[in-house]
Amino acid sequence: MDNNSENSSTNHSNNIVWHESRVSPEFRQEVFGQQGSTLWFTGLSGSGKSTLAFTLEHMLVQEKFKSYVLDGDNIRHGLNNNLGFSDADREENIRRVGEVSKLFADAGLIVLSSFISPFKKGRQLVRKIHEDAGLNFLEIFIDTPLAVCEERDPKQLYAKARRGEIPHFTGISSPYEEPDDAEIIIPVSNSPEKSSQQVLEYLKQHKIIKS
Ligand SMILES: Nc1ncnc2c1ncn2[C@@H]1O[C@H](COP(=O)(O)OP(=O)(O)OP(=O)(O)O)[C@@H](O)[C@H]1O
Ligand SMILES: [Mg+2]
Repeated sequence: MDNNSENSSTNHSNNIVWHESRVSPEFRQEVFGQQGSTLWFTGLSGSGKSTLAFTLEHMLVQEKFKSYVLDGDNIRHGLNNNLGFSDADREENIRRVGEVSKLFADAGLIVLSSFISPFKKGRQLVRKIHEDAGLNFLEIFIDTPLAVCEERDPKQLYAKARRGEIPHFTGISSPYEEPDDAEIIIPVSNSPEKSSQQVLEYLKQHKIIKS
């Protein structure tokens, strides 16, 4: 892993120095019994990202794996409470949570990041942040059609957006760019439990967690 020159082009100071950990990724992996990784859940509002991420987190921790959900709404309560939904703020939202996901994955966790993340560019940036650090990154597309999300509308956001009360609402007044490089696609017909099981099997098959 070469973090030394990381972000050098965007650093605002020349007086900071990267400190290398004494814990190698291999040793951390051996001690934790898992490969720190980010699973990135993307899809429309109401598609089922949070439901799946929290179901899977529960399943993983019950099996004694170390996992944690970073959820869009929760992060906007804290770290990103100064950001709105303009294109620039959405970009910064994803950049920050991408960096936090990377840190958690580097710490050895199975990070379940649940963000609409509508733009390919943002998701590609987050993938690159992980790949440059030698960390696993899996994009999981919750392929629930707009009509189904709008029918569910648990937060009544689509209704508000249709009335013009929410500007830049993904799927209504702002685009959602479907991934074409997702590692896993979740069909709308799946229950959250079935999808969690499917992702768990994927993690075991790829030796990210022990069978
Ligand atoms: N697999 C599923 N089958 C049927 N209903 C589901 C499924 N997954 C989630 N739901 C329901 O869909 C609604 C939206 O789910 P959820 O809150 O997980 O979406 P989300 O993608 O996280 O949305 P947001 O981006 O707004 O946070 C909830 O009412 C949830 O119970
Ligand atoms: Mg959610």
